[in-house]
This record gives sequence, C-alpha cells and structure tokens, in this order.
Amino acid sequence: MTPHPLIAGNWKMNGLRASLAEIAQLGALYQPSLQQKTELLICPPATLLIGAQEIAARAKIALGGQNCHFLEYGPHTGDLSALMLKDAGASYVIVGHSERRHGHQETDAVVQAKAEAALKAGVTPIICVGETGAQRQAGVALAVVEEQIKASLPAEESSTIVVAYEPVWAIGTGVTPTLEEIAELHAFARDTLNRLFGSVVGDNIRLLYGGSVSPANAKDILMLKNVNGALVGGASLKAEDFIAIARAYL
Ligand code: 13P
Repeated sequence: MTPHPLIAGNWKMNGLRASLAEIAQLGALYQPSLQQKTELLICPPATLLIGAQEIAARAKIALGGQNCHFLEYGPHTGDLSALMLKDAGASYVIVGHSERRHGHQETDAVVQAKAEAALKAGVTPIICVGETGAQRQAGVALAVVEEQIKASLPAEESSTIVVAYEPVWAIGTGVTPTLEEIAELHAFARDTLNRLFGSVVGDNIRLLYGGSVSPANAKDILMLKNVNGALVGGASLKAEDFIAIARAYL
C-alpha cells in the first residue's frame, strides 16, 4: 500500500490576516472527491495559525508551522516550540528547510532535535533534505541526501514523519530536475529509509517532492513512484493554483 498523499503549502514569510480568505477559498474548492485522494496542508506564518484554525477545520485542511525550537519552553527569545504550534492549531511542522539550513546555519543535528521535539509534542515533522546546485554538478546529490536523511531524521523509527526532497537549486527558480532525476532520487531516498528503519516503516513514510511545483508540472511529478505528495512554495499562495496541483490526483 502506498501512503496517503499530502499536498503541503509553505507560505514562507508571506501572508497577513487578509490572506486567511485564501484558506477559505481553498476549502470551497476542496471537494469530497479530492479529499478522498489527498490530504491538504497549509503552513502559514505562525502569526496566522490561530486565526486560521476555525476556517481550516471547517475546510478539512490541516495547518502546520514552518519551524520550531528543539526545546519545549524557556529563555529563547523569538522562538516557538512545537507544543506552542500545536496549541495554536498546527498538526505538522516543517523542519530543516534549506532556507533555515542555509540562512540560519541549522545543522543536521539541530534538525534532528527539532524533528524529535515535534514528535514528542504530537506534531508531525516534515523534514526537508536536498542538495545545492554545486553538489548536483559535482555528482554528489545522492550522497548528500543520504547523509541528511541519516543525520536529521529522528533516531527512533516512526512512519508518522514526512520527508521532503527539495533540491535547493529548484526552490523558487522555476527550474525542476528532470522526471528521471526525481524518480532516481526518490527511489534512493526510499531505499535509505528502508535500510534505516526496515520496510514496514520505511515504505509508509511519505516522501514529498518540493521545488518549483506548479499546476503545469504537478501531474507528471506526482504520478512518479515513491513521490507521495508535494511541498509547494510560491504556487501555494493562491488557492486556485494550489488546488490545481492537488487535482493531479483526480
Ligand atoms: P517553490 O515552490 O516556490 O519553489 O518553493 C518550494 C519550497 O521551498 C517549499 O518549501
């Protein structure tokens, strides 16, 4: 059995209260026939979580955070814990996004601690991995992703986690790897998960692709073996684009 797909929207640092209307509109477009085929998730800025809670619940859309601290509480100015995100309505949290690995110097060890903190709080971590353009050019994409999977996933096996492969050079660029490259990487990531956790757990971990997913390329990417959904940036900001991506499953 392949895991139930997940189409996740990462709004990044975009969205004011007026943007909650997009979630309401998304709900109107998220028909029962599509609900059966795929789960939808929006990760808005944390400031919008509480305001989005009721709208999202009515629309059967899950909410998530974009980052969390690895501790539950304490003197960490500006940080939020997984427990706080859950309290505000999040059932998922993205950890280890490349914009945090590179922009905030987050190491694999930090990402792992965050993923474990999320699980402990009862929030599903979406752990991001992916090579840079230079690493792909140098022919080490698989090795980089293998190392990130081994070092940034929770130490204890859990099929609750979600892994998102996001090649850094494909994020926000409109450029994607070829379908063959995505298929190769995802098959390799699945193998790595199975070697780490055994196939009962490994086969049930959802593996998302992220990086310039659009309504135009979604179907080809989402129908690939070992691709169990997408992590969408820019195209998740407009309900119509986001739902068009999800409709690849109809
Ligand atoms: P884009 O879809 O805008 O390329 O962003 C991908 C991403 O980083 C999602 O987390």
